[in-house]
Amino acid sequence: MSGCHSSTNPVDDIDLSTYAGIRSEVRAGDPNDSELYTVLFESGDDLMPPPPMAPLTDAQKERIRLWILQGAKETNCIGDCDTAAVTTYSGSIAALIQTQCIGCHQGPTPSGGVQLTNYSEVSGAVTYRGLLDAINATSGPNAMPPSGPMTACNIALIERWVQGGMPQ
Ligand code: HEC
Repeated sequence: MSGCHSSTNPVDDIDLSTYAGIRSEVRAGDPNDSELYTVLFESGDDLMPPPPMAPLTDAQKERIRLWILQGAKETNCIGDCDTAAVTTYSGSIAALIQTQCIGCHQGPTPSGGVQLTNYSEVSGAVTYRGLLDAINATSGPNAMPPSGPMTACNIALIERWVQGGMPQ
């Protein structure tokens, strides 16, 4: 997230805003020899994300471990662009928001005053805070995420969910 491991002034020169940057902290096939994974279990100042941010959940850590174990490939498991089926919040939108948005949109002072940590916050941001406009914008302060648009697949996934009535 901005101010930590983003492309501008990354802390410790670790830029996690690109695949290449993430990949340089990973030894494919070996989570226990991958900083990206081991920092999740450190203590004190070495723990990432650092307190007072909440540590990752066991399920999130496991997702990273499996990804590394499976070769740390540049793939996107979220969203299925081949089907017109409507997705649910818990089915895929939550995971997508978690990877793309939540770093800046949680905690006591979320960016733009927008929290995106659960169903009612995300659906509320669609209704009241222009979330769809934000993910479709390509420039300007309200283009989300600020580092550049998500893949067309991920944008389409959220649009389909909204058009389908934002099922939980
Ligand atoms: C790197 C930090 C960062 C990430 C990641 C990020 N945002 Fe934001 N977001 C911001 C900031 C900063 C603002 C306030 C922009 C402004 O109004 O100047 C904002 C504002 C918003 C707003 C309010 C826009 C408005 O017009 O008031 C929405 C909705 C939003 N973000 C949704 C998202 C979604 C959805 C994602 C993921 C796809 C996302 N953001 C990812 C930093 C971020």
